[in-house]
Amino acid sequence: MVLLTTRVAIGFAAALFTPFACAQDVITSDTHFYGQSPPVYPSPNATGLGNWADAYSKAKTFVSQLSLEEKVNLTAGGPETNGCSGSIPAIPRLNFPGMCLSDAGNGLRSTDFVSSWPSGMSVGASWNIDLAKSRAVGMASEFRVKGVNVALGPVVGPLGRIAVGGRNWEGFSNDPYLCGSLAAETVTGIQSTGVITSTKHFIANEQETNRNPSGNVSAVSSNIDDKTMHELCLWPFQDAVHAGSGNIMCSYNRINNSYGCDNSKTLNGLLKTELGFQGFVVSDWGAQHAGVASAQAGLDMAMPGPGSFWGSNLTMAVNNGSVPESRIDDMATRIIATWYQFGQDKTFTSPGIGVPKNLAQPHDTVVGTNSSYKKTLFDGAVEGHVLVKNQNGALPLKSPKLISLFGYSAKAPDNFDVNNGGWNNGGSSLGPQDTVTANRTTTHSQIASNGTLISGGGSGANQPAYISSPFEALSQRAYDDGSALLWDFHSSAPNVDPTSDACVVVGNAWATEGADRPGLRDDFTDGLVLGVAARCAKTVVVLHNAGVRLVDRFVDHPNVSALIFAHTPGQDAGRALVALLYGDANPSGKMPYSVPRNETDYGGLQNATLPEGVYEYYPQSEFGEGVYIDYRGFDKRNVTPRYEFGFGLSYTTFTFGNVAAVLAGGGCGKAPYMYPTEEVVPGGRADLWNVVATVTAEVTNAGDVAGAEVAQLYVGVPGGPVRQLRGFEKVFLQPGEKREVSFGLTRRDLSTWDVVAQEWLLQRGTYRVYVGASSRDLPLTTSLKI
Ligand SMILES: *[C@@H]1O[C@H](CO)[C@@H](O)[C@H](O)[C@H]1NC(C)=O
Ligand SMILES: *[C@@H]1O[C@H](CO)[C@@H](O)[C@H](O)[C@H]1NC(C)=O
Ligand SMILES: *[C@@H]1O[C@H](CO)[C@@H](O)[C@H](O)[C@H]1NC(C)=O
Ligand SMILES: *[C@@H]1O[C@H](CO)[C@@H](O)[C@H](O)[C@H]1NC(C)=O
Ligand SMILES: *[C@@H]1O[C@H](CO)[C@@H](O)[C@H](O)[C@H]1NC(C)=O
Ligand SMILES: *[C@@H]1O[C@H](CO)[C@@H](O)[C@H](O)[C@H]1NC(C)=O
Ligand SMILES: *[C@@H]1O[C@H](CO)[C@@H](O)[C@H](O)[C@H]1NC(C)=O
Ligand SMILES: *[C@@H]1O[C@H](CO)[C@@H](O)[C@H](O)[C@H]1NC(C)=O
Ligand SMILES: *[C@@H]1O[C@H](CO)[C@@H](O)[C@H](O)[C@H]1NC(C)=O
Ligand SMILES: *[C@@H]1O[C@H](CO)[C@@H](O)[C@H](O)[C@H]1NC(C)=O
Ligand SMILES: *[C@@H]1O[C@H](CO)[C@@H](O)[C@H](O)[C@H]1NC(C)=O
Ligand SMILES: *[C@@H]1O[C@H](CO)[C@@H](O)[C@H](O)[C@H]1NC(C)=O
Repeated sequence: MVLLTTRVAIGFAAALFTPFACAQDVITSDTHFYGQSPPVYPSPNATGLGNWADAYSKAKTFVSQLSLEEKVNLTAGGPETNGCSGSIPAIPRLNFPGMCLSDAGNGLRSTDFVSSWPSGMSVGASWNIDLAKSRAVGMASEFRVKGVNVALGPVVGPLGRIAVGGRNWEGFSNDPYLCGSLAAETVTGIQSTGVITSTKHFIANEQETNRNPSGNVSAVSSNIDDKTMHELCLWPFQDAVHAGSGNIMCSYNRINNSYGCDNSKTLNGLLKTELGFQGFVVSDWGAQHAGVASAQAGLDMAMPGPGSFWGSNLTMAVNNGSVPESRIDDMATRIIATWYQFGQDKTFTSPGIGVPKNLAQPHDTVVGTNSSYKKTLFDGAVEGHVLVKNQNGALPLKSPKLISLFGYSAKAPDNFDVNNGGWNNGGSSLGPQDTVTANRTTTHSQIASNGTLISGGGSGANQPAYISSPFEALSQRAYDDGSALLWDFHSSAPNVDPTSDACVVVGNAWATEGADRPGLRDDFTDGLVLGVAARCAKTVVVLHNAGVRLVDRFVDHPNVSALIFAHTPGQDAGRALVALLYGDANPSGKMPYSVPRNETDYGGLQNATLPEGVYEYYPQSEFGEGVYIDYRGFDKRNVTPRYEFGFGLSYTTFTFGNVAAVLAGGGCGKAPYMYPTEEVVPGGRADLWNVVATVTAEVTNAGDVAGAEVAQLYVGVPGGPVRQLRGFEKVFLQPGEKREVSFGLTRRDLSTWDVVAQEWLLQRGTYRVYVGASSRDLPLTTSLKI
């Protein structure tokens, strides 16, 4: 028997369309919003779709031997015996050793002997599928050695709807196609090692402000229509589920006023039915807000523990008939099937073995780092840098004799020890997290003034075995080639030696989980750059940026010769930068988001939504712009950005030619798009991945150094945005070398979500097809007619 206890009432229009209350009535009851998220019950059983059949048959046998209490025990974190973010208790009688779930998607948190990998946004800036995968494999090998069954990443939500989002750097890109492609590689790479991915945060988790209830203000509600949900927010989750992600983490925010972990439409409907998800859903830590209702809505595991909702109360809910035992069976079976699916029953490391509860106490050393992945760490750091200005070939530097180095982000942090956050807060200690959070109203409030920003802060950060800062790497270079270095890390208007061959200014834009950024540029850093540029004819600006950073206040200064968005490169930040500055490496990163000229260009998508007006207690974030975020919005509103999505310079030049676009089957006869099937695989309808058209083009390295170009394919789907990214390929070319690139366009790539049919549908008409080097540098055009 299924009783619908909350969130279910007769439907009426969502606040998105017509606020129900009179303008002057402050809403003080949650019941006002009931029914805005449609009820989808009962929660579907996983059945072993796709390649999950074996795992399910083993899991059913396993679960059939458990008592109700034992099954319930699997559904929530148990006592903390180690430093894992959460732990599922063992069942020794059946040789189940329990499970360790730990943060996060840019490296293992809260332990030693691990690496800080280039963070998600740097992976996004690399536009490199192979590198994304090798990073995933290398990172997961550390989780595995340390006994972590579930890595709490990758992040594909926030996607990056609002510019100041505190966690945008954890994800790959605010373009769903780029994000989804890199997420799929990351899921495949991590899970190839036997570690399960927890793709997060499901869903529409686009701001940190009011992400959780506080006092009598509830968590923010993302009010999002069905089309935007599918074409934007759900898209990368779909790719992750299709790639086999074993776990999905539901989010803190509400969606249409129903909490992410109690929302039957998103969990039972979108994830478990439409996408055919076969793994289990875990709550973000503390994101569960109901007992019976969350069980019925499709939550499978509560973290960090059962709280007052589950545990013995879940057992009681079964015994009193509120939750059918089959729902508990499905929870337990999904969890155990996922454990089998990735072979964790066979050879997995003992849960939590390398994640001690307290690193300040004596503990065994378990080395997660592995020199096999040095190149991946380094290449990832290099390719996450995007060169956006390079006046008169200022870079690469040509045997400079004297470099002057400025800025707080150029040197390693003063202090990085057990008491200063490394082991507890990860990279947030790389910023003066204590003063910065207390100082959000000062000019310093947007920056980490205490050292090289290798990652943003919060649960996505960790403590690497070492840090290479720009200062250390440049010092090493001076040692190697007999040149000289001058530095000043703290002055706002430093002295400049006029004989400097180049002045390198390294600043940052800090972001952390738990808060959105107070702005997109800061006066201190802008002033520092302008101060140096006034005295140095060749000023090279490097910004470690955990999110978009506006640069219009200084970038046109004639002495600002070069600008690099370094993103958050991880532990090899310094040596990667030096390789690029000296031309040992050729820049090949591209912007995974747009950089506008000014805040107003965002047209309302700069800041988080605040609780205000009648929604003083229930902040309502209306996703009224639909799919028109970032370049889709700039294109629609005719706003010319400073640096467009997909843009990035190289030390060589590339040309494009010979574009061709063909429909499968020549556009008639047995073309696969004419024969949709109903089959559902993890990720959704199987036919969504049928390739229905192919676009080819040629890329040539027309310069005189080797380099890599990202060939980008954009498509204008009839009735949709002017163009959307629908393919990319990074090609490494020797001088003069030419290569053909080929993009397979799937049924989903060429479809729009039809809210009436509840299907992805191809559109009749002419599709514009563009190929080139960025979203606004598209020398090749052609079309497809469907
Ligand atoms: C949210 O409400 C909109 C408008 O009614 C609807 O299109 C959409 O499907 C709802 N989504 C969820 C997850 O409730
Ligand atoms: C799940 O499976 C159980 C056992 O086969 C069955 O009793 C229950 O009705 C199923 N639930 C759904 C939603 O199909
Ligand atoms: C449930 O797990 C706890 C440890 O968290 C353990 O003490 C208890 O015995 C378990 N219950 C059952 C029925 O196995
Ligand atoms: C909300 O909390 C504030 C501060 O605690 C209090 O002054 C106010 O009365 C509360 N409002 C309601 C409607 O509970
Ligand atoms: C069960 O739920 C009740 C009511 O919410 C709560 O007071 C109690 O602490 C819960 N029990 C456990 C063991 O969490
Ligand atoms: C059944 O138990 C659950 C958990 O303690 C409780 O929330 C619910 O109100 C109970 N329902 C009935 C009908 O007793
Ligand atoms: C390091 O990684 C390589 C490549 O995956 C692997 O063969 C090797 O066993 C690893 N070394 C250790 C000590 O884990
Ligand atoms: C840098 O961090 C250390 C250790 O937390 C602290 O002592 C020092 O004051 C900080 N310096 C600045 C400039 O914030
Ligand atoms: C805030 O920043 C200013 C300027 O950097 C500094 O002098 C002050 O001590 C900071 N305040 C706090 C509370 O950390
Ligand atoms: C965004 O937030 C910042 C900091 O609170 C504020 O100064 C700015 O005016 C806001 N911008 C808009 C467009 O509301
Ligand atoms: C550029 O730098 C030179 C010093 O090399 C300085 O004389 C000149 O004034 C600077 N230009 C500007 C516009 O500040
Ligand atoms: C730039 O944005 C700011 C808000 O941050 C606004 O006050 C200013 O008018 C804008 N400038 C232009 C030229 O649009």
